[in-house]
Amino acid sequence: MSELKVTAIKEGTVIDHIPAGKGLKVIEILRLNRVNGGVLLLAANVSSGKLGRKDIVKVEGKFLSEEEVNKIALIAPNATVNIVRDYRVAEKFRVSIPDEIVGILRCPNPNCVSNHEYVRSRFHVEGREPLKLRCHYCERTIEGDEILGNL
Ligand code: CTP
Repeated sequence: MSELKVTAIKEGTVIDHIPAGKGLKVIEILRLNRVNGGVLLLAANVSSGKLGRKDIVKVEGKFLSEEEVNKIALIAPNATVNIVRDYRVAEKFRVSIPDEIVGILRCPNPNCVSNHEYVRSRFHVEGREPLKLRCHYCERTIEGDEILGNL
């Protein structure tokens, strides 16, 4: 077990190995600050063997849906999700970017049908490192900060 930088949690989720500086973005897109009742912890710029520096987000009383895990993957492709029950890590998995991203991201093309009709946005993953997505409807490609800006 690595050195404990912030308090252990009793029940909930620890999102670990987030690139340094992206922890707040994870909190923001999952709206973790609005989860009622539980403690929310952000450890920013923590030393990590693998990444150099990393962020960690801990959220008590919250378990993530598949869609939420997919959102994390777009920001932090190497993040680890730990499900904690009664102070122990009951489950641990790496996030992964699916082949299609549905209903998560707005298409940046203002003329795209997905911004006008009631259809869920849909992107095909063209590349993973770096991440490059193509809109299923208008074929517009999107990468880098533009992805973060449209989450
Ligand atoms: N953790 C926590 N509360 C607990 C148990 C674990 O906040 N009750 C956190 C740890 O601080 C760590 C993460 O959950 O950030 C994963 O815990 P663990 O698997 O014990 O740590 P490592 O072995 O260092 O994880 P990895 O191998 O994924 O780096």
